[in-house]
Formats: sequence, structure tokens, C-alpha cells
Amino acid sequence: MIKFILNDKIINTSANSGMTLLDFIRENAQLKGTKIGCREGDCGACTVLVGTLVKDEISYHSITSCISPLGNANGKHIVTVEGLNLPDKLNTIQQSISDNYATQCGFCTPGIVVSLAGHALHKHYSHSHSHNSSKDAISGNICRCTGYKSIEKASDEIEDKLSTKDHQKPIEWLIKEEFIPSYFKDISARLANLQLDEIGKTGVTVANGTDLYVQQADRLANENMHLIANEASLKGISFENDKCIIGASTTVSEIMQNERLRTIFPKLKSFLKLVSSEQIRNMGTLGGNFVNASPIGDMTVFFLALNSTLSIRNETGTLRQIPLHNFHQDYKKYDLQKGELIQSLSFNIPDSSTLFNFEKVSKRTHLDIASVNTACEIRVENNFIAEAHLSIGGVAAIPKYLDQTNKFLHGKAINSETITEAEKILQSEISPISDVRGTKEYKRLLARQLFFAHFIELFPNEIEFEKLIIL
Ligand SMILES: Cc1cc2nc3c(=O)[nH]c(=O)nc-3n(C[C@H](O)[C@H](O)[C@H](O)COP(=O)(O)OP(=O)(O)OC[C@H]3O[C@@H](n4cnc5c(N)ncnc54)[C@H](O)[C@@H]3O)c2cc1C
Ligand code: FES
Ligand code: FES
Repeated sequence: MIKFILNDKIINTSANSGMTLLDFIRENAQLKGTKIGCREGDCGACTVLVGTLVKDEISYHSITSCISPLGNANGKHIVTVEGLNLPDKLNTIQQSISDNYATQCGFCTPGIVVSLAGHALHKHYSHSHSHNSSKDAISGNICRCTGYKSIEKASDEIEDKLSTKDHQKPIEWLIKEEFIPSYFKDISARLANLQLDEIGKTGVTVANGTDLYVQQADRLANENMHLIANEASLKGISFENDKCIIGASTTVSEIMQNERLRTIFPKLKSFLKLVSSEQIRNMGTLGGNFVNASPIGDMTVFFLALNSTLSIRNETGTLRQIPLHNFHQDYKKYDLQKGELIQSLSFNIPDSSTLFNFEKVSKRTHLDIASVNTACEIRVENNFIAEAHLSIGGVAAIPKYLDQTNKFLHGKAINSETITEAEKILQSEISPISDVRGTKEYKRLLARQLFFAHFIELFPNEIEFEKLIIL
């Protein structure tokens, strides 16, 4: 049986783990406030909150329920818009939306209310610019009719109200300020008392479903599922000596919020804000990104440039290790045998002489997949390149580690001539095709411009921008 708390009610259901959480909410629980829009994770109409208990503390994040397997709700608190209603008045978020005329037909409004409630409940919420803003929180909510200015005004008003949030007693404060109803104060204790059954041990392997469910939600509704999103051995970010190890079921948001990683990569937040939306970042895992094997997988391109190693375990628990750049073999073909799972990824923590950059161009800046994306790690010794790892997506059948270009750069002085020569090698290594994300000529141009962008960003004093254009 799958057990979870839906708003203030305990659910004990024999429904199949593979059905979507959205269908359970609307059809089984008959809660129609959660809307169906695109059914592909793109519009945010189906947004709900997931509360997870970790050591007596509950943390909430938003997800799109249309591409989430019901089984992943086991042991969680699921909050729909109905679960945010106060008994006899609008809650603070709903009131701000009404006061700022931030709703017209209202179809998107429940999703926006839930996303903003997720922002208010988020334990990392603070006024510091290093954390997400209320506008980031609604980055995955599309509105067709109101116009975003009034929605932004409402979200700014909510941000102001949250500036006095009591971080010692956040739930109590949010109840007092009428953001959430009072039943929230007992949820931690109620979750701790749920006696959970083991579910989702065999069947189709799914982490958080943002790739699998976009295409296959109907088929998976009746399948047995092997649920790995919450498996402890696949979770977590740890640091051992000079290595960082990240569990395969770690999400993009968990990477983005990790304080140590943010120190190692000061621009981490701006890099990862280019990946999907808040809801999808809260779901999308590293393992899912690698095994989906899209030639433009952002996290794959990011970690290729860190010269990462994968730990892969088989059914008996035996581990083998391979470089990430040997994992993808051809379009959607990769080195994973039946029964194997990616357990984790590791990379050497860049030292002070190592610089990293990530670039992505897509048809729109946010909530879009890349036309071309690329990452670059360069270790410098006495103005010479001691080590180079560049990767690029969208220009080959696989996310490409630029082997030849990296070899060429090794030992070279950093100047415009080197970069110009290296770019010619890069062009000989890639084989873009024309598709909806651009013609092959456009992708070659993007590959060149983004390659130059890495060096202009990382070595502004060594690279003469004008020379790159003229040469
Ligand atoms: C609206 C939307 C926007 C998106 N935007 C982006 C974007 O900007 N950039 C981007 O790169 N991607 C994007 N994606 C794609 C997707 O979010 C990512 O690829 C994500 O990382 C997939 O993770 P998941 O856990 O959801 O994968 P799932 O769908 O759960 O799994 C995908 C595949 O990986 C397998 N798998 C998962 N984990 C493991 C493991 N540990 N070992 C072995 N196999 C495993 C599953 O069996 C499945 O075959 C977007 C998706 C959506 C719906
Ligand atoms: S229905 Fe559009 S994101 Fe789920
Ligand atoms: S108010 Fe109509 S879609 Fe947003």
C-alpha cells in the first residue's frame, strides 16, 4: 500500500505506483483545484508541494504532478491548492493575487498559489540574493491571459511580507501570518508515525519521471515501477579529501542549494537557473539526465567538463567505475547493462588554479532546452594550459567531450591565437544536424561563439576580443 498525507488526510491506497500523482489527486481524491494543462511538465497548472521529513524537520518543494509517479508520494506530505485554503477567508498569497489583479480566467492561478506557498515554506528562504526569489519560484508557471506584470507585483508583495519570517519557527510564523492553515503544525509528527510498506522494488526504473513520463505517462500507469528517487544510497552530496561525490538521485535544486558547491562554483546559481524551471529542477536528477542520454542534457554537459567518473552498480551490489565521457556511445546508446544503476558521480574539486564556465543558448532563456550548451574547465600553470576539459551539447549524437580540442589546448599559452586554432579543431570534432532548435550552420556558429565566450569570460586579460572576431 502507498501511504501519504494529502493535505490534512492520511491516504492508504492500493492504486498502482505508476499512475501519475495528478490523476490520483483529480480522479481518486476528487480534488479538482489541481489543473491539467500540457501534461508535459511545461505549464505548471498541475503544481503541488511535496513535504519530506528529514530528521524531525520537514522541507517542502514544488513539483509538476502530471509527470510524477504516485509511488514517489509514499511517506510524503502532498499539498494541493485545497490544502492551502483557510476555513473562512483567502490566505495571504491568494489575497495578494486578488489585490494585484493577478488572475483572469484563473486556470493557472492554483498552480501559482501553490508555487508561491512552496517558496514561503522553503527552508532555504531568506532575503539574501544567493537564494531563490518568489519570481524564481513561479518560473515554471505559465499564464495565458493575465499578463505577467500583475503576477510579479503580487509575488513582490509576498516577498516583502516574507521578509520578517521567523526562521526558528517557520511553520508557526506562516500559520500566524495566514499563509497556510493550522493543520500544518502537526504534519511532521503525523508523517513520523506513518508505518510505511516497502513499495516499488521491481519494474520500470524511474527516478522523478521528468523524462520518462513526458512520453509514457499512459503506458506507465499500469506498469510495476522500480522507484529510485528516494533510495538513500543514491542520494546526497559529500566531500572526501579533494573529491566531491553526488548520488545519482540528487536533483538539480539540491545541487544548486548546496553551500559548498556554491563556494566551489560561485556562479552555480546563474548556471543552473538556465536548466528547466523551479518545479522541474526540484525533480530532475543526475542519473535521469545521464541515462536519458539527450545530446543536449545540461547536467551531462556540465559534469563532462569536470572530467567526472560514474559509479555503476549491478544487481548484486558490485560497483564498477567509468569516466562519464565513455558512458555515451551513440545516439541514446550508453554503457549500462540490464539491472545496472548509476549509483553516483564523482569529480575532483577544482583548486584555485582551475577555472570553470557553463554557457547555454536556447530559443528562450528560461524553461527551454538548449540549441547548444557547453562547459569548460581549465587548469592554468604560469599562464599555460596545464589541463583542459571542454564539453558541448547539441552538435553531435551524444553530449560530446571535446577530446581533440582538449588535447590541442594542453600545454598551450592562453592567447587569441591559441583559441582561434583550437576552434578549428572543435569544428572538425562536431557534426551538428538541422532540427527545430536550429540549422546545422547556426549550431556551428553557436559552438564557435560559446567556445570563445568561455575564454572571454575566464581570461578577460589574456584574450583580445577584437582579434577573435577578425581572425
Ligand atoms: C518541462 C521540462 C523541462 C526540461 N528542461 C530541461 C533542461 O532545461 N535541461 C535538461 O538537461 N533537461 C531538461 N529536462 C529533462 C529532464 O528534466 C532531465 O533530463 C532530468 O535530469 C531527468 O531526471 P529524472 O529523475 O526526472 O528522470 P526519469 O524520467 O526518472 O528517468 C529518465 C531515465 O533515466 C533512467 N534512470 C534514472 N536514474 C537512473 C539511475 N540512477 N541509474 C540508471 N538509470 C536511471 C530511468 O530509468 C529513465 O530511463 C526537462 C524536462 C521537462 C519535463
Ligand atoms: S499539466 Fe502542465 S505542467 Fe503539468
Ligand atoms: S489567468 Fe488565465 S491562464 Fe492565467
